[in-house]
Amino acid sequence: MSFKELVFSGVQPTGNLHLGNYLGAIKRFVELQNNHDCIYCVVDMHAITVPIAVWGGPEGLTRATREVTAAFIASGIDPKKHIVFNQSQVHEHAELAWVFNCVARIGWLNRMTQFKEKAGKDRENASVGLYAYPNLMAADILVYRATHVPVGEDQKQHLELARDIAQKFNNDFSESIAARGFGDMFFPLPEPIIQGPATRIMSLRDGSKKMSKSEPSDYSRINLTDDADAIAQKIRKAKTDPEPLPSEEKGLEPRPEADNLVGIYAALSDTTKADVLREFGGAQFSNFKSALVDLAVAALGPIGGEMKRLVQDHAYIDAVLADGSQRASAIAGKTMKAVKEIVGFVGR
Ligand code: TYM
Repeated sequence: MSFKELVFSGVQPTGNLHLGNYLGAIKRFVELQNNHDCIYCVVDMHAITVPIAVWGGPEGLTRATREVTAAFIASGIDPKKHIVFNQSQVHEHAELAWVFNCVARIGWLNRMTQFKEKAGKDRENASVGLYAYPNLMAADILVYRATHVPVGEDQKQHLELARDIAQKFNNDFSESIAARGFGDMFFPLPEPIIQGPATRIMSLRDGSKKMSKSEPSDYSRINLTDDADAIAQKIRKAKTDPEPLPSEEKGLEPRPEADNLVGIYAALSDTTKADVLREFGGAQFSNFKSALVDLAVAALGPIGGEMKRLVQDHAYIDAVLADGSQRASAIAGKTMKAVKEIVGFVGR
């Protein structure tokens, strides 16, 4: 069976949207919308899987949901042509996640490295939601029967799990799926799109750690709402080594901080690391950093400015989400109706 190409991805509203989220995900969302149908989701139900003090409570969640929506639009996503909405407003995500809780195996979830990282040492005290999170993520994608999922490298394992869940559902219910005229596969096996020089942006303070929303030092990341001065200061203070830049990519291998800055430059300028090194090979970091500041300010400044403006306009943002939720529900409702029939739930 062939499935219509459809792009789906999500971003958590947990504050501090940063350059990693932008280059690894949102910028790719914008590129894909030119020749695909796309659904982009603010995954608010995922946000509450961590302790309330971390996700910020009701006001924090509302603010962050509007902020991610504003970031999508400010970055260039067209919410009229595509669908932008927040997860909690389309109840089929939670319904399908329950079915997937019964399809996925505990052994599969036990292998998820992100759960281990986020739960830390006190695993007994992590929420059940954090543990079952990848099943909800699979439901997010598959409730639209989406085929392509642009994400950063850190989501690769979750995507593999989503494929395993889709496959197991297709196998477990193969007769019921065929009997109802859906052929031999009800769900597609969604493909991750993890490409380019910025699939894993690292902390500006430590090239061995991922740039993250939760890192305590604000100097570790460039936030999308940082102004030009903050961007400049953070790049100038970014950790480097004393050597000049190499002229070939293999020279970056033992130099994680240099590799990271070159990757950021390449992603912001839509080139490759090799191209950047052709231009800057042999240069001192001070010169390279000045060029990177100019590039980053030119690329991110307008997005941050527009985000700050949009986020004030609650009526507009909330209307975008309501409209998107309605259109998303129309698709998700059809899938869930079919899933209920396939599983054998009695109803109309
Ligand atoms: P989240 O909210 O942590 O991150 C949003 C997107 O940003 C990417 N990303 C990065 N890319 C490069 N370098 C980094 N340092 C970096 N940090 C984050 C993430 O890979 C992601 O693409 N579970 C997901 C949200 C989600 C989802 C989905 C995604 C929920 N349901 C369905 C795709 C499809 C998450 O927590 O992303």
